[in-house]
Amino acid sequence: MSVTVRQACRGDLPHIIAIEEASFSVPWSHQSLAAELENPVAHYYVLEKDDGSVAGYADVWLIADEGQLANIAIHPSARGLGYGEILLRTAMEALFQAGCTSLFLEVRQSNAPAQGLYRKLGYEGVAVRKNYYSQPVEDACIMQCQKENYQWLSHSR
Ligand SMILES: CC(C)(COP(=O)(O)OP(=O)(O)OC[C@H]1O[C@@H](n2cnc3c(N)ncnc32)[C@H](O)[C@@H]1OP(=O)(O)O)[C@@H](O)C(=O)NCCC(=O)NCCS
Repeated sequence: MSVTVRQACRGDLPHIIAIEEASFSVPWSHQSLAAELENPVAHYYVLEKDDGSVAGYADVWLIADEGQLANIAIHPSARGLGYGEILLRTAMEALFQAGCTSLFLEVRQSNAPAQGLYRKLGYEGVAVRKNYYSQPVEDACIMQCQKENYQWLSHSR
């Protein structure tokens, strides 16, 4: 199935909210998800399937030359199909184009799928933040991807 990654818009919010609430034990509030549409440092993307449905979103921030992965999720029914990788590559490459030299993120220690994705694209663990998450309480792994360590696809450079 072909997919498109495009900037998120207000009409995507119900889909983003549904995916967020299906993906996290402590989801972002509707207000927080909506506010990202107006956040001047945010690059907010959705992945749309060719039937028009939204299967996931990614939200990255660029402050000076430093990026942050604020949020990413794929609908539970659409995981393992490469969509998360497509979304994250699009978001990261947009930041690199805009002058980003390095990105950071936080991820639950137990979140093997997400950590697998991040390591595949060039992130490595740089610190642990004790008891960062609730429901359940869990440490966060802080990961960083420096631009020179990003694992470009041969056709995407
Ligand atoms: C993390 C997430 C976005 C990955 O999206 P996805 O579309 O399922 O992932 P992809 O199919 O693009 O997989 C890309 C890579 O991620 C890794 N990966 C994906 N699923 C994995 C799993 N179940 N176990 C281990 N690694 C996995 C692999 O490295 C994979 O590459 P490969 O197919 O060449 O092995 C998705 O699992 C998700 O939405 N999870 C819930 C929300 C969440 O945890 N967000 C991150 C918060 S920090």
